[in-house]
Amino acid sequence: MSDFDLVIRNGTVVTAADTSVCDVAVRDGRIVALGERLAPGREEIDAAGQYVLPGGVDAHCHLDQPMGPGVRMADDFETGTRSAACGGTTTVIPFAAQQKGHSLRAAVDDYHRRAEGLACIDYAFHMIVSDATSAVLSEELPELIEAGYTSFKIYMTYDDLKLDDRQILETLAVARREGAMTMIHAENADCIAWLTEALEAAGHTAPRYHADSRPPVVEREATHRAISLAELVDTPVLIVHVSGTEAVAQIRWAQGRGLRVYAETCPQYLFLTAEDLDIHGFEGAKCVCSPPPRDEASQATVWDGLENGVFQVFSSDHAPFRYEDAEGKKAAGEDAAFQYIPNGVPGLETRLPLLFSAGVLGGRLDITRFVALTATNPARIYGLYPRKGTIAVGADADLAIWDPDAEWTVTNDALHHDVDYTPYEGMRLRGRPVVTLSRGRTVWRDGAFVGEPGNGRFLRCARPQPARPRGESRGF
Ligand code: URP
Ligand code: ZN
Ligand code: ZN
Repeated sequence: MSDFDLVIRNGTVVTAADTSVCDVAVRDGRIVALGERLAPGREEIDAAGQYVLPGGVDAHCHLDQPMGPGVRMADDFETGTRSAACGGTTTVIPFAAQQKGHSLRAAVDDYHRRAEGLACIDYAFHMIVSDATSAVLSEELPELIEAGYTSFKIYMTYDDLKLDDRQILETLAVARREGAMTMIHAENADCIAWLTEALEAAGHTAPRYHADSRPPVVEREATHRAISLAELVDTPVLIVHVSGTEAVAQIRWAQGRGLRVYAETCPQYLFLTAEDLDIHGFEGAKCVCSPPPRDEASQATVWDGLENGVFQVFSSDHAPFRYEDAEGKKAAGEDAAFQYIPNGVPGLETRLPLLFSAGVLGGRLDITRFVALTATNPARIYGLYPRKGTIAVGADADLAIWDPDAEWTVTNDALHHDVDYTPYEGMRLRGRPVVTLSRGRTVWRDGAFVGEPGNGRFLRCARPQPARPRGESRGF
């Protein structure tokens, strides 16, 4: 009787540190041996000529998140995790969002109910703190951090979510004391409100004016302020969905001063520009997200930042709203002013293939950096490493066997989310997963989803263990 459930042979095994051609043996859902000519397994996969990658960790996505009246996310835990698995991702970290006036614990409990029995791959939760009352800060947040919800997002914009500077300081102080990671959505709410009012008064309500209502300076100012508040409290922060040159400059400045400022970017800032909001009729609504996509110069800056270490994390920020749907992008009608269009683009399934094709094969990122950005760093930063995010004896057998030569065209019909469009329709890509394994079970193989809702498990996170921003001498 074989000792191994599965042996993956002759693939190029990639971690954030190096690559080696070897076999990977799996037993009881975990990696139990790496080496040459391992004994036969009950099942075998020949991965010659292919990469064996740690399954992706998508550390920023929104699934079945309760929205305002009349608006609904298209993906729940089943369709969202199915789509992620088909794109080579094996762990997702969506958000349990506190509603103002409600408890944080209630949001976490509700989110567990939403995930229960549906997730096809493993998942953890970030929290969203939108009501930083003294009960939340002194009791709920510390208890939840201790219980394995060790990261939370705060907003500097959106009326129903934003905190003011004093509340941010008080929340950061809790993160410092409890050892949690704070993610910050950095855009200046008052600037956006003022610009939106002026644009609307001038009759500029089409989707493309969304970009004008949130210009780079609005993100730059908030990024600088978030960094300053974190410096004052002396706690690490991670600036999410960074869109371009001006915010990157603030983050580089902070990292250069040795501050523990981490940063995330997303496909929409590499592959879209503000011009994508200016397509026929209302269709620009498909690309309305915040911060908005910028210009080609910003795309180049974001690529540089992925390469040179300004960014530690590459996430999808999958925020799924159907286009042809009265509860989706058109919730307020086809002629609705841009400020009423639900924000966000889908991207769980396309995140890894887009970055691999344009980044690795495009000569901008080496394959180890690709793994660091898409799996290892998010696992470390959010306390899931080394169980997730790497290929090592003892780690979960969450793997993507990746064909670097597969040529394909992105079409929404072939994706597995429940959104009726992809912003990347028609893009020609090279490279994609041929097999995805979640704790040793095959969930995607040769173009078919073969996973099962309910097999995904909830993951309690340890305190963050971030990789240092590159070139920095101070640790966490
Ligand atoms: O437009 C976006 N990014 N929507 C998702 C919510 C958020 O702020 O991440
Ligand atoms: Zn955000
Ligand atoms: Zn988001």
